Amino acid sequence: MIAREIKQGITLLASVHWERRLFDSLIPLPDGTSYNSYLVKGSEATALIDTSDPMLEKILMNQLADVDKIDYIVSNHTEQDHSGMITELVKKYPDVVVLCSSKAQEMLSTHLGLPQERFRVVKDGEVVSLGDKSLQFIYTPWVHWPETMCTYVPESKVLFSCDFLGSHLATTDVFVTDKAETLIAAKRYFAEIMMPFRAAIRNNLKKLESCDFDMVAPSHGPVYDDPQFIIDAYVEWTSDNVKNEVCLPYVSMHGSTKIMVDYLTDALVKRGVKVSVFDLPVTDLGALAMSLVDAATLIVAAPTVHVNAHPSAVYAAYIANMVRPKTRYAAIIGSYGWATKQVEHLAGMIPNIKAQVLGSVMQKGLPTEETFAQLDALADAVAKAHSEDSNIAK
Ligand code: FEO
Repeated sequence: MIAREIKQGITLLASVHWERRLFDSLIPLPDGTSYNSYLVKGSEATALIDTSDPMLEKILMNQLADVDKIDYIVSNHTEQDHSGMITELVKKYPDVVVLCSSKAQEMLSTHLGLPQERFRVVKDGEVVSLGDKSLQFIYTPWVHWPETMCTYVPESKVLFSCDFLGSHLATTDVFVTDKAETLIAAKRYFAEIMMPFRAAIRNNLKKLESCDFDMVAPSHGPVYDDPQFIIDAYVEWTSDNVKNEVCLPYVSMHGSTKIMVDYLTDALVKRGVKVSVFDLPVTDLGALAMSLVDAATLIVAAPTVHVNAHPSAVYAAYIANMVRPKTRYAAIIGSYGWATKQVEHLAGMIPNIKAQVLGSVMQKGLPTEETFAQLDALADAVAKAHSEDSNIAK
């Protein structure tokens, strides 16, 4: 990808990773991603904000081929998809000063194998002049690591947010051209990575209100030249608001659990509740995580394997617990052949989900009329809880 200017003196150096389909060997990337660096040229000095993933090393180095001098590298975030090229860049620009937050100094040293003295700590609010432009550093911790910060260039009204507000989206576009597409990619990213830290992120959003920016330049995905929609989305995602929706991940072996899932889905829909159903052995975990951003209720459905829950349900419960959704209600349904401790097993796996348990329905063998009556009662309980919850918009 060629370098492209986003504002006078500020250039996007995007390394677009079209082929990448998995991040951290865990997170699905159906739309690829990009690692964005930005070159900020002032009248007196030049800074590079964030670097790139070493997997695409040549792209950034080619973009910098004609850049003889960089005075500063700003590391907004230690994770190697943004810091991993610092080692190579320090070789190319031996006099460069690497700026980072106080927490990042030790982390960068540990992760890159460079001495701590190689990094200069900037304080929260500190300003470094580039001449007619300046870099203001705003600590925004826990997005999604403890050391994260944003860099603001007030003269250009640009906020460099790194992972914060970004989207895993491979594109040749410099700016967002399709807000709906970008919003889905950004929500997926928020759900998978940011959601456990929503309280900290909410505080960071408030902190950014003091900055008068009209452009947000993240280090993944396209640049926001009309950033209010992504700010508004983050405000909503990090709020306590949930929707009149049930997230229903399931796995079925011989069909009994699937019969229960289908019955419960219809029962909930009859009561005006939206349901998102995920067949766990083949589901996209990112889509499941996105559902958990909004759903008021999580209902896990699974058959029993050797007394405990099916391993696919165990994995889903582990992921759900890890992303710490704001889910307010929960239930477990499923089936078994001869004995089960599945409800206790799954319930014990989600301590981070502070949800009110609405009950469980476990069926030995094929569902019966009694099973369906229990599922109707569960649907009643879900609909009642949702209708009485002030965190659900009516
Ligand atoms: Fe894009 Fe947390 O790294």
